[in-house]
Formats: sequence, C-alpha cells, structure tokens
Amino acid sequence: MPLSLRKIACIGAGYVGGPTMAVIADRCPDIDVTVLDLNAERIAAWNSADLPVYEPGLAAVVSRARGRNLRFVGQTEGAAYVAAADAVFISVNTPTKTEGEGAGKASDLRYVESCARFIAAHATGHTIVIEKSTMPVRAADCIKSILATARPGVTFDILSNPEFLAEGTAIRDLEQPDRVLIGGERPESIAALAEIYRRWVPTERILSTGLWSAELSKLVANAFLAQRVSSINSISALCEVTGADIGEVAAVVGADSRIGPKFLRASVGFGESCFQKDLLSLIYISESYGLTEVAAYWQQVVDLNQWQKHRFADQIAAPIADAEGSLRGRRIAILGFAFKKDTNDVRETPAIDVCRQLLARGATLAVHDYRVTPESVRSELGAQGVEVAATPEAALAGADGVAVLTEWSAYATLDWALLAGMLKAGAVIHDGRNIVDATAVRRAGLTLRSIGRGAQTNA
Ligand code: UDX
Ligand code: UDX
Repeated sequence: MPLSLRKIACIGAGYVGGPTMAVIADRCPDIDVTVLDLNAERIAAWNSADLPVYEPGLAAVVSRARGRNLRFVGQTEGAAYVAAADAVFISVNTPTKTEGEGAGKASDLRYVESCARFIAAHATGHTIVIEKSTMPVRAADCIKSILATARPGVTFDILSNPEFLAEGTAIRDLEQPDRVLIGGERPESIAALAEIYRRWVPTERILSTGLWSAELSKLVANAFLAQRVSSINSISALCEVTGADIGEVAAVVGADSRIGPKFLRASVGFGESCFQKDLLSLIYISESYGLTEVAAYWQQVVDLNQWQKHRFADQIAAPIADAEGSLRGRRIAILGFAFKKDTNDVRETPAIDVCRQLLARGATLAVHDYRVTPESVRSELGAQGVEVAATPEAALAGADGVAVLTEWSAYATLDWALLAGMLKAGAVIHDGRNIVDATAVRRAGLTLRSIGRGAQTNA
C-alpha cells in the first residue's frame, strides 16, 4: 500500500521551519502539522499576532492555517505529536562548530543529533525522518545510527529535503519553487513526501535523487550563489581602479544566456546564516577527503568576501581618519543593518564586520534599519559608541560619513537636497549596495562612492 503522510511534525520553528510548515499546512488542509521548538518565547510569538520572523505574506498564511491544521508547541508538549506523526522534519540550526574537531569550519550537528534522540525516544510504528536543515554530506549516517537505538519494532526511513527559500521572499519561494529536492533510498518514502508538494508544485519541478546527492546539492547550490557574489565583487575592485562601471560590466556579462543576469549585484559582501557556514562545511568536507585543491578553491570565495567588507570599511574611514588612522570623534551614519532588505535577520550580516571595524578605530556609529530591533544591533555591536536611530534623518544628523549597508528601497529615494544640510561638511556617502540616487546626491553637492564605480562628485 502506498505510504500516505497524514500527520507531520517539525522540530525547529525558525526562519526555515516556521514558514515551510505554514505553507504546507495552508496548501494541505487535510494534513495535521505541528511545529515544535525548545524556545518557549519563540513558540509564544508564533502563537501571537507578532510572529518571530518577518516575511512578506507570512502572517496571512499563518492566520489561515493556525488553529485549523497548524499548531506551534513547546518541545515537551510536542512529544505526543512526534509519537503520532507519520513524518518528522528536522529544521534546527546547524551552525559552524566553535570547538573540537573541525572548529571554525565543520557544521555543528549537536542540535540535529539531539532531535534524532528525541525522535528515537518518542516515535511509534514507522516514521519518515526528513532532513530539512542543511547538513554535511553523509549526515544521514549519523542520524540513522541514533535512530537505531529506538525501541524494538519502531522503524524509520530518512529523506533529505533541503530548503532553497531565500529570506524576504520565503513565501513566494515556497509557493512557487524553482525545484523541490527529495533525496532518499526508498522510492515509496520519496513518493509519499512528493505527494505533499504535488498539491501545489508541478511534478516536473519535484526532483528526486539519492540521499548523498541531495545533501551535497544544497551545499553546492549555496556555494555557487556565494561564488557569484564574490566573483562580481572581485571585479568591482578592478572597476574602481580602471574606471570601468560594475553595473555595465554585470549587465553585459549577464546578458549571455549561459551566465544569466541574476546574482551579479556587486555589494559590500554577502551575509546571512548559510552562505559562509555552508562554504566552510564544503571546505571542511573536501579537506577531510584529502581534496586540498578543492578546499582552497572554495576558501577563496570566503576570503574574497571578508576582503570586500574590510575594503569597504577602509574606504569609509579614509577621508575622515586622522594621521594615525583613528576615527575618534567621528560620527558615521549606518543606513541598514539586516543582511539584505525585507528581513529582520542579522546573522552574518556584512554590517557587523564593517561596523566592528569602524568602532575598533574609535568611531561613533548611528545605526538605522527598518526592521532590525535596537536589541539586535546592540547584541552584535555592544552599546559602546553605538546609537540606534529611529529614522534615517536621525542617523544622518551631524554625521561625518554615511554608509548604506542594506538595500532597503526607501534609501534609494532619500531627499539628499534636504539631508545635505544635516551632514558635516565634506561628508562622503558610501553606497555598499549601489542603490543611492547618484544624480540627487551630486545635485545636493555631495560626494558618492559606490561599489565598483569609484567617487562621483560635481567636480
Ligand atoms: C536554517 C536551516 O534550516 C539550517 O540548515 C541552517 O543551518 C540555518 O538556517 P533556521 O530556521 O534559519 O535554520 O534557524 P533558526 O532560525 O536558528 O531556527 C532553528 C530553531 O530550532 C530555533 O528556534 C531553535 O530554538 C530550535 N531548536 C534548536 C530546537 O527546537 N531544538 C534544538 O535542539 C535546537
Ligand atoms: C540564500 C539562498 O538564496 C537560498 O536558496 C538558500 O536556501 C539560503 O541562502 P538568502 O541568504 O536568504 O538565501 O538570500 P540571498 O538573496 O541569496 O542573499 C544572500 C546574500 O548575498 C545577501 O547578503 C545579499 O545581499 C547578497 N547578494 C545577493 C549580493 O550581494 N549580490 C547579489 O547579486 C545577490
């Protein structure tokens, strides 16, 4: 008899687990969906009007399904739902290890392992365990060995179903994915999960592969995306010294259908919780198999990203630092702290490195962002020398320099004619996202420095 998944559970109510389960519940009213999390505060927020994750469209999806076939519960209460589930997704964080073997590179699987132990302790009958978190290739081996400790008669199968959603467009990416990937060893388990996605995803977009290919594909997809950003950022530096324009170069290169136009926006650097972590994981895996050249190749993508952030911070400092390079007494307006627009997420945001570097040189920062909370900014930067501004104007008042670090649409239409008078004389605007209206800035008599374009003034 074909398997049918009527009850599912998901451990981890984060940026991935929460929105993914909400969309499944919304699209499949007949499937009972429970999301569990150790963090009681997070669960309370998922059950309130103030969701813990900001994503356009998410609130509407949650409000349709919550209380009908979608529930958010704490870990203890969730045990009974795991026991009753036909399938359990693991969607907990897999950060870079900070200690032990592989520290600084390998993914830390301790949360995944504790989920596997929880599932082994509570599951009944036959349960499909689904890796939703990004895992190192062959992580399923480790999950399998933990599940093997379950009571006799309790059986499992493992699938890898990595998520490709991007933050800020999570709901659109979940509702209209380029592809859904399901890796596994048993066709009937793959078919059972595919049946859920088939409710709204065209069959030809549901790809099935072996388990190891699925695990590796997710790491490689993120590595390729990050590589494109580092590639275009490397060329941005070359543009600045040669007088070429990065926008023009990217448009020409991207017009080749073999290359394509997406992911060629030069920037202050890529951020977010996955790119660097997944690159480091890929590097670690390559090294552990003795593939040093492969590891070195991907390491360069990480290094270039670090270099771009430092290069940008140095450019902000250059016109206002004293002879010793100090920024003491200088106030710098930071417009944008999230790693990209339309999200409140600050994990690995390039703003952290840029700001820390400026603070280390003695600057005072006035940080503005439309979604990031003051607590989030302070938890990354501390309170010393950091002011969180409620409006862009408040950040700009009295600033010696301005840095645009997130591409919030509103920063593209700032009224520079009005704002120019609030800045200190000679203040340069450094655009880390190439969104500032260059004509408006020039007309206001200010100097703009864009990534890959060099300085633009009226002179
Ligand atoms: C995503 C991906 O799923 C993951 O592969 C990647 O490593 C990081 O990005 P994400 O949803 O963004 O994860 O992570 P996060 O927002 O941190 O959510 C994880 C949730 O799992 C947290 O709410 C945390 O409290 C919860 N958790 C963690 C548990 O419920 N149990 C645990 O044992 C560990
Ligand atoms: C990414 C992947 O896109 C997604 O498939 C995966 O599941 C998780 O990681 P996300 O990090 O949310 O999603 O956003 P993305 O739009 O990919 O941007 C990542 C970073 O690269 C951001 O800091 C962004 O500003 C930067 N970026 C992106 C650029 O600097 N230039 C570009 O052209 C594109």
